[in-house]
Amino acid sequence: TMVLSSFAWRGLALAVLVKVCLSVSNRCLPGDDCFPTNLEVIKFMETLDGTLHFPHMASYDTLVVQRETIYTKFPFAIMEAKNINDVQKSVLFARKWNMLVSVKTSGHDFIGRSTAHGSLMIYLGSMNDTKVNLSSTRNPAGEITCESGNTWLKVYNEVDKINRVIIGGSAHTVSMAGYTLGGGHSPMSRMFGMAVDNLLELELVTADGRIVVANDQMTHITYPNGSVTTSDDTDIFWASKGGGGGTFGIATKFTYKLHYPAPQVVQFVCGYPIIRPGANGNWGSIVLAMNHYGNYVSASRRYMDDLFFFHKEWQSFCYYVNRTTFLDYEVTAKDPEFYSGYIMNTLLQKESFTDDLTRFLLKELETEHTNISSFAFTGTLLGGEMMNVGAHDTSVHPGFRTALMSLSATIGWDTSTLDYSGLPERGAVVGEQLSTFGDGQYPNEAGKDVVHWQQEFWGSNYKRLLAIKHQWDPDNFFTCRECVGSESHHTHASGHLNTHPFVPAVG
Ligand SMILES: Cc1cc2nc3c(=O)[nH]c(=O)nc-3n(C[C@H](O)[C@H](O)[C@H](O)COP(=O)(O)OP(=O)(O)OC[C@H]3O[C@@H](n4cnc5c(N)ncnc54)[C@H](O)[C@@H]3O)c2cc1C
Ligand SMILES: *[C@@H]1O[C@H](CO)[C@@H](O)[C@H](O)[C@H]1NC(C)=O
Ligand SMILES: *[C@@H]1O[C@H](CO)[C@@H](O)[C@H](O)[C@H]1NC(C)=O
Ligand SMILES: *[C@@H]1O[C@H](CO)[C@@H](O)[C@H](O)[C@H]1NC(C)=O
Ligand SMILES: *[C@@H]1O[C@H](CO)[C@@H](O)[C@H](O)[C@H]1NC(C)=O
Ligand SMILES: *[C@@H]1O[C@H](CO)[C@@H](O)[C@H](O)[C@H]1NC(C)=O
Repeated sequence: TMVLSSFAWRGLALAVLVKVCLSVSNRCLPGDDCFPTNLEVIKFMETLDGTLHFPHMASYDTLVVQRETIYTKFPFAIMEAKNINDVQKSVLFARKWNMLVSVKTSGHDFIGRSTAHGSLMIYLGSMNDTKVNLSSTRNPAGEITCESGNTWLKVYNEVDKINRVIIGGSAHTVSMAGYTLGGGHSPMSRMFGMAVDNLLELELVTADGRIVVANDQMTHITYPNGSVTTSDDTDIFWASKGGGGGTFGIATKFTYKLHYPAPQVVQFVCGYPIIRPGANGNWGSIVLAMNHYGNYVSASRRYMDDLFFFHKEWQSFCYYVNRTTFLDYEVTAKDPEFYSGYIMNTLLQKESFTDDLTRFLLKELETEHTNISSFAFTGTLLGGEMMNVGAHDTSVHPGFRTALMSLSATIGWDTSTLDYSGLPERGAVVGEQLSTFGDGQYPNEAGKDVVHWQQEFWGSNYKRLLAIKHQWDPDNFFTCRECVGSESHHTHASGHLNTHPFVPAVG
């Protein structure tokens, strides 16, 4: 839990601002001569329906904290948007003054992409309207339009009431924005595909303040001067289906397909203890959590039974739970409110499941890292319906379309641990080794030191993504770590180096 007093936060914010002023960047930062004056900021504030939160305010202290706490950074101000016009005005204001922007909805990003020191943070967490349309002509079970600030549990509750399900995260507090823009997998993806396969339309504000509504037929643009165009260009829609958050624009609304629910959800959980060699007693356990979405008596039940009866004498527990609905299952999933750790990922293919992989996983699990850290693997089953979408139909890594599992690992430590030196370094090494087993990595669950991240996150889709980025955001106004177009030594139009001045400052 976060115990820093607001006094401490302010102290940190000040220290950081001093640091910011000294850094080299092509953006105007607090303290630079080019930065807008207080009067300009107040004038801007008066145009907003939403609220600007500054470091001296208690509300800032709450909004500034990243869920992955080691990446908390200190924006110049946090603009809590009420509507799309607030978002557009903020983009135009930041653009006018050459400010750095950051875009945050839940702040769950595992490598801190949703914040930056000295930035104008555009925060969408308070925009959470939804609208269901059951007479959609685009999808038989209907569609739902959600503002970006919706969290999954809220939406699961809403669609459950009308007897529908939706592809979202196995998470309560994660928002749909970063989740969907990065691809989005769900416990039901084998049945209904990824979130991007279910996306019918989105609304976003682009780097030059255009309001765009895009789907697989057309792109409708409203320019800041009010003029309107419609074309059959689908580039920005394609790029939004996996190209990552914080890159092509600020999404304000997503429209998804709804689905009819299966009659039953069977949750299957088995635990196997891990004995540390040379030590007395247990050290940890491998827990297999699987969800069978459908009837109790069907094909996939056989696979679960195989596990159920696999070395019963090794199991510490193994059971089935009947859940009547997806919501009934999801409410049992609990998100940690805050966490600290190093995440890594690989997309395992059929041919990845070798003895070498088994040896690698066992070795990592058995190695006692330190007494302040824990090490865990989480595998999400992929395949099924996800495989029926072409490698280039969406912008996610083509490896997603052949993968059987997205395997993530975390070296975690307590959020109150201040000296975690050595652990991220170890994570970088293990992450690099892990990635050699699969084909591609999920950008939403991958580490911060992925060397060839362009190839690892997007494979053969990267080239088109980069071309679209250059077309829609030629100045790289939206920039974040390991994001399309954010190559570290990209030369900016002004001739300055457009690097990430702040990335290494915290964590
Ligand atoms: C507890 C937990 C469970 C998870 N479960 C799953 C799961 O089941 N399946 C899965 O696929 N993933 C899962 N994830 C990973 C999740 O997809 C990522 O953490 C994702 O980045 C979260 O997006 P966010 O908008 O909530 O977070 P944020 O930190 O707010 O944003 C993430 C990224 O998107 C950008 N962004 C945020 N809002 C917008 C916007 N409105 N427009 C454009 N860009 C924006 C940010 O700048 C940042 O780059 C889980 C994560 C956690 C912490
Ligand atoms: C939706 O947003 C409003 C603020 O705009 C907030 O008060 C409310 O708690 C949010 N609802 C949920 C379920 O998050
Ligand atoms: C529902 O969607 C259809 C098109 O798919 C549209 O014609 C209709 O107006 C929508 N209804 C509402 C209430 O938005
Ligand atoms: C509005 O802006 C667009 C894009 O900059 C431009 O093409 C168009 O001519 C402008 N329209 C008017 C009426 O000024
Ligand atoms: C779950 O429900 C099925 C019927 O659908 C029943 O046969 C089974 O015994 C139930 N299992 C448990 C653990 O309650
Ligand atoms: C971890 O081990 C070190 C010695 O190696 C010891 O000083 C420290 O107190 C231990 N920390 C915890 C949290 O057990």
